[in-house]
Amino acid sequence: MIPTQLAILCLFLFVSAGRIPGPDGAEPDYNLCEATVPDASTYAVPPGATLELVQIITRHGDRTPTEHLPNDNGEWDCSAAESVRLQIPSQSDSTPHFKQIIRAGAERGAKGWANKLPKTNCLLGQLTKRGIQQHADLGAALRSVYVDLLGFLPKSMNDSVAEAVYVRATDSWRTKQSALALFSGLYSPGHVAKEFVKDLVVYPLEADTLKGRGALAYCPRFRQLRRQMYLGNKAYEQEIARVAPGLQRTLETLLGTTGKGDFDAKVTGWDSLSGWVPPRFCNGKPMPCNVRGECVTVEQGLAAVAARQVDYAWMYRDFSPEYSRLYVGPLMGELTDMARGPRSSKLQIFSAHDSTVAAMIGFLNATSVTWPPLRSNLIFEYWKRPNGTKFSRIVYNGAIGGPKAAWCDFTECDSARWFTYIDERTPQDLERECIALEEAGDDKNGPVSLHGEL
Ligand SMILES: *[C@@H]1O[C@H](CO)[C@@H](O)[C@H](O)[C@H]1NC(C)=O
Ligand SMILES: *[C@@H]1O[C@H](CO)[C@@H](O)[C@H](O)[C@H]1NC(C)=O
Ligand SMILES: *[C@@H]1O[C@H](CO)[C@@H](O)[C@H](O)[C@H]1NC(C)=O
Repeated sequence: MIPTQLAILCLFLFVSAGRIPGPDGAEPDYNLCEATVPDASTYAVPPGATLELVQIITRHGDRTPTEHLPNDNGEWDCSAAESVRLQIPSQSDSTPHFKQIIRAGAERGAKGWANKLPKTNCLLGQLTKRGIQQHADLGAALRSVYVDLLGFLPKSMNDSVAEAVYVRATDSWRTKQSALALFSGLYSPGHVAKEFVKDLVVYPLEADTLKGRGALAYCPRFRQLRRQMYLGNKAYEQEIARVAPGLQRTLETLLGTTGKGDFDAKVTGWDSLSGWVPPRFCNGKPMPCNVRGECVTVEQGLAAVAARQVDYAWMYRDFSPEYSRLYVGPLMGELTDMARGPRSSKLQIFSAHDSTVAAMIGFLNATSVTWPPLRSNLIFEYWKRPNGTKFSRIVYNGAIGGPKAAWCDFTECDSARWFTYIDERTPQDLERECIALEEAGDDKNGPVSLHGEL
């Protein structure tokens, strides 16, 4: 075997094992298919300090694609995921009398649209069985740290201690299911009272600070920045040309998406052009092919991911602090209010998306902003020292100290510094900050779709 073939084989084995490596500067165990979780055996307890509150922001687990490619050859089977019993009923997804059955419309045969879809009994972006298991495992890992090691959370869950844990999710089936799976891992059968029902807080999508929709719907200045984000920025274009030279055209041809707005990299960043990669790579599915039988290669798939990695740093950190402020400032403000205000909860869970996690890391101006892997878990711990002073600590995908930033050491970031940094970057008067003044060359009818928001 000649060396390049060997290299390609190695790359293929690496990827087909459900692993997608990170860009330069990513965490050493970065795997886009599955984030690592906290580990009680290596978790360092700050000496003498008392834990006061834990906030965790997660990305949902493994899921099916959020859009169908025109000539999709992947087969998706969600029957196993459908039958996974969740311990905690959720009012909006289940009733005592219905069980949701997902059909691709096969019964209607040629009279319906089924031939537009790949073979599937899944919804777009549905959590797979593996995705559910990922969050159940995360919940179990949190239990081993915050219940078993620290004795911080109640050992078992029932009505009298229900307030100790607050759970919120976006209005999306996969994030609700992820939250439920996490909660079921944290309080598995035997640790939860029979018939116990946990409140799950959900905001209407268009006003949900865990997503960018509010900014898009109600903030003209944000829409203006959004339009400007991809317009002729040299640094961004050079970086894309470096990691994915000429790839956009090639991919559009191979995916059969040429001229289709949703897939245009200029409109959405690399969201659509790379979005098909993780579901397929992480689940061992074949690479997509066009009608002429030409297929995307593994290297091209990885290059599309590399381009998306450039997008993440650009969009959530480098493009504009004001963009970050309007996009995720409202959420950071909510979190810090919840941390400082009166509260009965000790653990606050926010089940969300890659865009949420990346935006928060970009807001914190981390030296590395990467595409948050499936099941990403970003933890803010609030500690009190023996002498009464306080500090915050970040644990990101199991790593204590989280993503590094120049302005604070996240293994022990003094509370005053932590809250001041966030307060200064959180809009105090959204109405006023959202006013958009006319700017030369700003095309009001330009594209403003939000990436990764399905
Ligand atoms: C509820 O759980 C708490 C903490 O795990 C426990 O101390 C208490 O006895 C439980 N109460 C009931 C009624 O089971
Ligand atoms: C972000 O941090 C870098 C150093 O890592 C610094 O040069 C830059 O000014 C910071 N950006 C903002 C908006 O604070
Ligand atoms: C409290 O303790 C920390 C860590 O031991 C120390 O750095 C800090 O100066 C102390 N602050 C006060 C006000 O004593």
